[in-house]
Amino acid sequence: MGYVISIVNMKGGVGKTTLTVNVATSLAKDHGLRVLIVDLDTQINATLSLMPPLQFAHLKKENRTLKQLINQVIQPNAQSIIPIENIIQRNICKVNGFDLLPGDIELYNDFLLAAILYAQTHQNQQDFDKNWNTLEDSLVRTVLQPVMKSYDLILLDFPPGDNLLTRSGLVASSFYLMPAKPEPLSVVGMGILEGHIKKLKQSDRTNINLLGIVFSSLGHATTMAAKVKNRVSSEFGEDKIFSTEIPTNVAVAKAVDEFQPVVLTEPNSSGAKAFTDLTKELLQRLPTRLSKTRSEG
Ligand SMILES: Nc1ncnc2c1ncn2[C@@H]1O[C@H](COP(=O)(O)OP(=O)(O)O)[C@@H](O)[C@H]1O
Ligand SMILES: [Mg+2]
Repeated sequence: MGYVISIVNMKGGVGKTTLTVNVATSLAKDHGLRVLIVDLDTQINATLSLMPPLQFAHLKKENRTLKQLINQVIQPNAQSIIPIENIIQRNICKVNGFDLLPGDIELYNDFLLAAILYAQTHQNQQDFDKNWNTLEDSLVRTVLQPVMKSYDLILLDFPPGDNLLTRSGLVASSFYLMPAKPEPLSVVGMGILEGHIKKLKQSDRTNINLLGIVFSSLGHATTMAAKVKNRVSSEFGEDKIFSTEIPTNVAVAKAVDEFQPVVLTEPNSSGAKAFTDLTKELLQRLPTRLSKTRSEG
């Protein structure tokens, strides 16, 4: 079985989604691996980086998004079942082995989930806290369970912030990877995340480990950036910092407009080259070597 990796930072705009779509593409295209992206963000940036809005609207109309799968776990008797295999979009951007579980603009928030769970708990005279934790521990695992063996790597693209769905994603992951900007506020987001993960680990609900921190470079070396990197390095350990940094590159932003990752639209750009190198480094950091599992065709 492969690995589930969370791409996460409590802060938004640090390059999580861009990293996820490009690394996933490179894993499938350059390394012959079977890769699934799961878009957990209601801003559906990963989904819309890989398909035009019209295509998403079509899927949404047919309930072929993550929302349907979450519904099926939370309210199993309320609707007709669509298996995850019929929701996953395959060979994204015509790359063999690159699949996407489309996100949704209206996923449950904690408030709504609490209301549903409270009603169920009350009806069955159960303990609300216990049921809440059980749901948190099982939601993402249950959604992915039928396809776990079909992928070498499953990358979860996180929204900023913390909610039941994100905690459930962390609990289901073997590793997390933290994209960060070498700016003081980005480090705050890292600290908050570490706090959340520590809590989950203390209650023995996960044994997720930090795969590493990926910095975007600001193009010019500033004293501030160097300071921040030093601080992060001493806090997390030098070995936790990826040696590949992601440069700011206009080709990266332009690619979004073509609904394709930059590693496909402009493979020779500085951004694409960095993502290709980062993918190699990521593979080296995994405890077991993943070798090509996909047969062409
Ligand atoms: N290396 C890069 N060069 C140029 N623009 C980038 C780069 N990485 C991300 N961006 C742009 O920055 C914005 C935020 O990136 P994104 O990946 O969506 O961050 P997050 O998922 O953390 O919110 C997006 O508009 C994206 O296109
Ligand atoms: Mg994002």
